[in-house]
Parts: sequence; structure tokens; C-alpha cells
Amino acid sequence: MALKPITGRDPLWRDEFSVYADDERFVTRRQFAKFLTLTSVAMAAGNAWILAKSWMYRAPAYPLRVVAAAGEVPVGGVKLFNYPASTDPCILIRTDQDTYVAYSQVCTHLSCAVFYSQATRQIECPCHKGSFSAADGSVLAGPPPRPLPRVVLERRGDDLVATGVEVR
Ligand code: FES
Repeated sequence: MALKPITGRDPLWRDEFSVYADDERFVTRRQFAKFLTLTSVAMAAGNAWILAKSWMYRAPAYPLRVVAAAGEVPVGGVKLFNYPASTDPCILIRTDQDTYVAYSQVCTHLSCAVFYSQATRQIECPCHKGSFSAADGSVLAGPPPRPLPRVVLERRGDDLVATGVEVR
């Protein structure tokens, strides 16, 4: 790049330091390589941090809670309970003599409360006519985008105990 001519009004130091402001905005190859290297190192460190966090992630521990005593709910009957927190409504359904299933009572569409219909043997949502299978909580009809979260039940003696929630 051609240097600007030095006029008679330029200070004396211009003779020794002849870099002009117009030329200062150009980045040298070394500066650019340094920028790329530092940016790459920062991104690699960020990814390593995310990877370490995902390795250290532990699924939330669910409490054990007695939901009902076996025989407390008649065949085809339901019991409402809250699990895992007192603000999480769930529904326990006894679908036959030996089968109990439990799901979140919150519809996966727009969070209306679902109910079990003995007539259709399905879990139904009154808001937009969504329906779910009582056997596995899968969507049978309507707008719900996902199955109902399933509450994992264990039989311990005469008690039905909730041990976790399976979100699918
Ligand atoms: S809220 Fe349940 S179907 Fe819309």
C-alpha cells in the first residue's frame, strides 16, 4: 500500500513512524490465526463442559409412596392421588382383577384433567376429545401429541407403591 505523502505540516515523528490510521484496520495473518485459535479453544472448552455436565447428570430420585391398598379400588374403578409432588395429579385405574395402572392426570395437549371412562375403557380428555389407552397411556385419538406419563407401580405386600414416573 502506498504511503501518504508527508506534507510540510506533519509532525517530525511521522518520518520515523510512518503507519497511517487508514492502514491500522487491516488485520495481519498472525492476528487472524491467533483469533481463530483462541475461538476454537473456547468452543472446545465449552463443549467439554457440556459433555462433563451430561456425564454427571443423574435422573431425579422419585419418592416411594403407597398409592392404595390392593383391593381398595374395585375392578373398573379409579383412585386419584398426587405423585411425585403434591401438585402432580395422577390417576390409578384397576383395569381387571390383577392389573393396576397409573398415569399423570394432566393431558399432554393443553393440560386438562383426564378421566377414565368405564364405558369405552379408555382415558379421555373432555377439553378436545383426546383419548388415551388405559393399557399403556398411548394416544388413541385427538390432538394430544404424546402419551400420558406413566407412574411406575410396585406391589409390596398388600400395598401398591409408586416408585417413579416414565415420561415417553
Ligand atoms: S387438553 Fe386434552 S385434548 Fe386438548
